[in-house]
Amino acid sequence: MIPDDVVEQVSQQADIVAVIGEHVRLKKVGSVFRGPCPFHQGTGPNFSVVPGGGYTCFVCGEKGSVFTFVQKRLGMSFVEAVKHVGAKAGIDVQEVDRKREGPDPREPMWELHATVSEFFQRTLWDSAAGAAARDYLASREVPRPLAERLGIGFAPREIGTMRTYLNGLGYDDDRLHAAGLLTRREDQEELRPRFRDRLIFPILDASGHTVGFGGRLLGPGEPKYLNSAESEIFSKGRLLYNLGGARNAIRRDDRVILVEGYFDVLRLVQAGIECAVAPMGTALTDQQAELLGRYTRHVFVLYDSDAPGQKATFRAADVLLSKGLEVRVVTLPEGEDPDTFTRTKGADAVHRLLEEALDVFDRKVQLLERAGWFADLQHKRRALDRLLPTIRAASDPVTRDLYLARAAEAAGVAREVLLSELHAVRRAARRTAGPAATADRAPHGHGPGGGGPGDPGDPSHRESAALPLGPYRSSVEKGSAEQTLLRVLLTHPRWFDQIVEEVGKLEDEDLPSGSDAADALVDEHSGAWRDPVYREIYDAVVDLGADAAPEALAERLDPLAVRVYEDLRGEKDAVVDASASMTDAVRQLRARGVDSRLRALESLLPLAAPGEKDALNLAIKRLSDEKRSLGVQHWGSVRRRR
Ligand code: UTP
Ligand code: MN
Repeated sequence: MIPDDVVEQVSQQADIVAVIGEHVRLKKVGSVFRGPCPFHQGTGPNFSVVPGGGYTCFVCGEKGSVFTFVQKRLGMSFVEAVKHVGAKAGIDVQEVDRKREGPDPREPMWELHATVSEFFQRTLWDSAAGAAARDYLASREVPRPLAERLGIGFAPREIGTMRTYLNGLGYDDDRLHAAGLLTRREDQEELRPRFRDRLIFPILDASGHTVGFGGRLLGPGEPKYLNSAESEIFSKGRLLYNLGGARNAIRRDDRVILVEGYFDVLRLVQAGIECAVAPMGTALTDQQAELLGRYTRHVFVLYDSDAPGQKATFRAADVLLSKGLEVRVVTLPEGEDPDTFTRTKGADAVHRLLEEALDVFDRKVQLLERAGWFADLQHKRRALDRLLPTIRAASDPVTRDLYLARAAEAAGVAREVLLSELHAVRRAARRTAGPAATADRAPHGHGPGGGGPGDPGDPSHRESAALPLGPYRSSVEKGSAEQTLLRVLLTHPRWFDQIVEEVGKLEDEDLPSGSDAADALVDEHSGAWRDPVYREIYDAVVDLGADAAPEALAERLDPLAVRVYEDLRGEKDAVVDASASMTDAVRQLRARGVDSRLRALESLLPLAAPGEKDALNLAIKRLSDEKRSLGVQHWGSVRRRR
């Protein structure tokens, strides 16, 4: 902070006419100065500046002090504004830190990283080793002034250059090693740089300290980008690339553009769109969203146009909404990312896209509408299952109300119904909350999974218990129907044909749902084989036949499935009465299928029109009867898992 008396001094000695005069063409009129208002882009002389006082616009009503002007026009914080104005008045404004005694303990690490960043930049521009990187930048149409502005550098392939340079400046190996800039491979003595042969993007925190690096390989290879290791100064999930550079622009424009990668940021900055930031290869975190919320409430998400980009968009949107931010989705033409689009189409085209950006919820509704998901009952159900999580995510009550109304309108369902669904989803979410999908992205992907184009952005991954996203767990669930069935199949080959026949029947079976709507749901909800690994083994055994060699089977299976398969084969004694076990297992699988159909139908009921209700109720009754006839007592575990 700046002491009050210093603020007062700057305020008194500031020449407000000179400061504002740098941005507005002012003319003396009597004792004041007048000009066109920069806030509402006026043309008449309605903007008035009083020497020794403040400014006012008589048209748009904007008014304030010399500091507010600088804050608003240049997007500076108050402290920055006082320093800026102070510098012009020849006053050296010093911040004092009341809370802490002495310097920040991270100071030495910041300083080291700034020095290393300088080394990378010198290597890029001034050394023979940097030639390939210079060519690379040229080939990607990155002019030198732009690269310099972002502090881009190059980490040489040669192992000793950086070390020698930094040792020469007094940074010893231990310090470089502790900072993660030199690493020692297991069982090897030698220290090597973490970054080698990579184009370097320095990563700054919001206050402008150099805290880490992102390095891109010049050629093909893995990983394409390598970031600094996590440390006391570098925590990927709490940083955003370019936030330091963008923060004044974000405040000034009162919006931020969220993109996926380094080159997207670079290209927007090149196009004069400075308010762009990017998370660094991870799904957007709560902390990153909070960080953005300090500067603006308006976030434009501009991700790649491909399916993973779309998925990541909606995932990021839910995080942002949960922090009370307003989220708009910018849609790029197919096959483009912000880098290619901006480079080939130019800044104006980007501005047009930004203007056309839709609120994230409207975008979702639009996608679902286009895919025909509000046309019939069972799609409606699925559409709402995708919208409800976003409504729930919105922490701002006004936004949530708007979303609720919009969804009710789109689906043609009463608001009250949706409201109770909202609570139902909440309960379901608690039951099925799986491992959060925040893992680092795969080298070319955008996180786990990947929705196809027919699946409008499936943002509801947290609700869809059917998706096997988490670590594999069910093989330890002893005594499941699948396990029993496979065990008999593998250890008692003489039952092979009958098992295949029974399971086949189970799958072709036309269960009496009595409703087309319900039949369409069967695929999604069929719970017969809820374990993909067991299913994989089953399919392989059926394909290769009862007498297939274990080695042949093992070859076809994933390593995990091989392990499960070996376990099953080793449990020959576990089957006492093969025939009874088999019959019981088939019955359980069948009951499970009936149960999931029943649930699906029940979930349609609240959405059904009066004319649809009778048929649904009839189908529900039939399935309930069948469920009873199969005996429910043995498969309570199904309930727990769903
Ligand atoms: P992209 O693969 O879309 O990168 O990943 P990009 O920005 O388009 O890169 P170019 O154009 O091929 O050079 C987007 C972002 O994900 C992170 C990086 O931050 C990257 O900018 N990422 C990607 C990683 O952290 N590691 C990777 O291996 C790949
Ligand atoms: Mn790219």
